[in-house]
Formats: sequence, structure tokens, C-alpha cells
Amino acid sequence: MKRGEILSAHQTRMQTETTTMKSNPTSRSTPELPPAVAAFEAAATGPEHPARTWEKLDSMLHIAALMEDILLHPQQDPVERTESLFRFLAEKMCRAADMAAEFAPVPEISSDILSGEEKTKDLFERAWTVYSNETYDHSVSLVEDRLRQSGFGEDFLKGRTCFDGGCGTGRLAVALARMGAGRVVAADVGSASLEFFRRQIARYGLHAVEVVEMDVTDLGAFDSEQFDFVASNGVLHHTPRCLPGLDDHYRLVRPGGFLWLYLYGAGGFYWAVYDRMRGLLADVSPERFCAHMRLRGVREGMTYTMLDNFFAPREYFLSSEILSRLRKLHPLEWRHQRGPSIFDDPSVYTGEKYGKYILGPEGEVRLAIRKMLS
Ligand SMILES: C[S@@+](CC[C@H](N)C(=O)[O-])C[C@H]1O[C@@H](n2cnc3c(N)ncnc32)[C@H](O)[C@@H]1O
Repeated sequence: MKRGEILSAHQTRMQTETTTMKSNPTSRSTPELPPAVAAFEAAATGPEHPARTWEKLDSMLHIAALMEDILLHPQQDPVERTESLFRFLAEKMCRAADMAAEFAPVPEISSDILSGEEKTKDLFERAWTVYSNETYDHSVSLVEDRLRQSGFGEDFLKGRTCFDGGCGTGRLAVALARMGAGRVVAADVGSASLEFFRRQIARYGLHAVEVVEMDVTDLGAFDSEQFDFVASNGVLHHTPRCLPGLDDHYRLVRPGGFLWLYLYGAGGFYWAVYDRMRGLLADVSPERFCAHMRLRGVREGMTYTMLDNFFAPREYFLSSEILSRLRKLHPLEWRHQRGPSIFDDPSVYTGEKYGKYILGPEGEVRLAIRKMLS
């Protein structure tokens, strides 16, 4: 398609987009995206060509940068900003298509500029294991702030038994142990993450942490009601057994204890934009994506955020649904988490002018749930 055709066709295409978005069962009341998104999609769709692929991958960098900025500025209208960027990107895509004849039919950038044979799983794991000790320490201190501000300071944690399901490289488990927990069991499926985590445990000189390699959507190996504090922080929404896995985490909490839960919130603009781009990336491997970002000089942290946001499978939830599900298993009380960033407390974020629009009507699912003494 040529530029003129694309820009005039995008309105027509838009009419079908709404139907497509609404047919996604997890999006529920997902906002419609501005028309320029469809214009960009049309411009980026076509035969595989080095110029088009380069431009498409570069566009993803612009999109991710804007989305992160939108998240941090819920006082600004996200629709206007998105419309303006996508219109610019659609133009650029069209120009790239016009220039196709100027490109020699060279092979694409090969993913072998990545070191060794990196498989997709390794790429995702590397996201969390490339950081310096300084960056790791900073992430631990952020988690400590979040715990303290949410009511789980040293006074609460002293001598407590904790479980961290999907611990990754263990920043939360390290924080819990440093703050005085008596025993912290930390589990994950990622062996590279756990290897990195064990090195951090040794560096911090912690003795209360036990590391287990396992799938945390089935916790049958653990007795019920044995932990004072059970955490699932940004894990279960990536798994195909999210809700049964959630029930299982709740089962491990002793009455009077807490479940610390973070899941992606349903119905927001932020994730809708990322999801919409997935179709355009269907023919791009994560390895190819990383190779492009490396050539472009993008810092690794940003590349891995994009890898996660554009490629990782996920589901979205509403806090109200989660709470009513768990309440049926055992009576509970709950409060929102708190923390140093604007999105730590969903009640603060949804109070911002465009907060509900960006992250959904209930914001992210960031809850501290207390299993009542029965
Ligand atoms: C986004 S990271 C979050 C890590 C950690 N909870 C944190 O807040 O830093 C998601 C983690 O979930 C882990 N994970 C995904 N599915 C899992 C499963 N079924 N069982 C155990 N871990 C899983 C991944 O290996 C990864 O370490």
C-alpha cells in the first residue's frame, strides 16, 4: 500500500478495530485506541523487507518510550500524545516503504550478533540477571520502602515465615530477610535467575533464605497455612494457570497472615497499546528484536522492558474480581499497597486525571490481603 492509500484507508480500518478489541475477553472495557494507531498498522503491514522491518522495530522503541512516559504522567492526556506519535510513525513507515527500491536485497540483521546461542527463555531470564550489584541493591531498597510504607516494616517481619512465589532474582526475598524474617522460601522456574539470586544471597550474607526451583502454579509440595507472609509479585499474570495458582498461594497463608499480590490491571490504555502491537511483531523473533535494539545502542534495561511488554504472554485482572474469588475461599480484609512511585498505590493512581484511563478503572492489582482469623 502507498502512503496516500494508507492514510485515507485508516478511518475505514478503524471501524473494524473496535470490534477486534472488544472480542478480546481479557480487555473488558479496554479503551479504543486513537485512529493513527490503525494508520500505523496499515503502513507497517506488507511484504517482509529490510527497510520496513528496520522502521517497524525502531517504531517500537518510540512507542515504548512514550508509553513509559504516559505511565509516569497521568495528568497528561494520553490519547493526544499517542495519536501524534503514531501519525508521525505512520508517515515514517510510508517513507520507508517508498524507499524500498533503494535497498539492496541484503539478508536481514542476523540475530547471531547476540552472544552465543540465546534462546527466547534465556533472553527473558537475562532481563533480570544483567544488572550490576549497585542496581540490584537499589531495587532491594525500593522493595523495602514499599514494604515499610505498606505496613510491613521490621516490627512486623521480625521472625516471620515468608514465601515468595516467582521470586526471579529475589529482590523481595532479600528485602524480607534483611528486614528480619525468620525464614524465607523463594521459588521460581528460572534457573539462571536463581543462580544470580544465590550469588546475591551470599553477597548479603543471608541465612534465612531457601531457594527452590519449581512451578509456583502448583504448590502441592507445601502444607496449608504455614506462612505469615506469602508474596506473588508480578508473576501469575504471565502463567496459563493464574487463578488456580493464586488460590494455591492463598492456601499457604496462615489465618492472620498476609498475601502480597501484584497482577496487571484490566481495562487500561497502557496495556492495550502494547497488545495491539503484538500482531505487527508476530513475524519478529525476540532475538531479532534484541539484535536491532543492540545495534541501535538502546540500554539493556530498556530492551528487556520492551521484550517483556511486547512479547511475554499475560492476562489482566480487576482487584474486585480477585478479592471476591479469594473471599469465597476464606474471609479476608485488604488494603492497597503503598510505595515510593506513583503507581504503587492504585487508589492514588486512579485519582489522577487520566489514571483510570491509563491503567484501567481499578488500576493495577496491588493488594495486601489479610486472611482473617476464623
Ligand atoms: C516479572 S518477574 C518478577 C520477579 C519477582 N517477583 C520480582 O518482583 O522481582 C516474573 C518471574 O516469574 C517467574 N515465573 C513465571 N512463571 C512461573 C511459574 N509458573 N513458576 C515459577 N515462576 C514463574 C519468572 O521466571 C520470573 O522470574
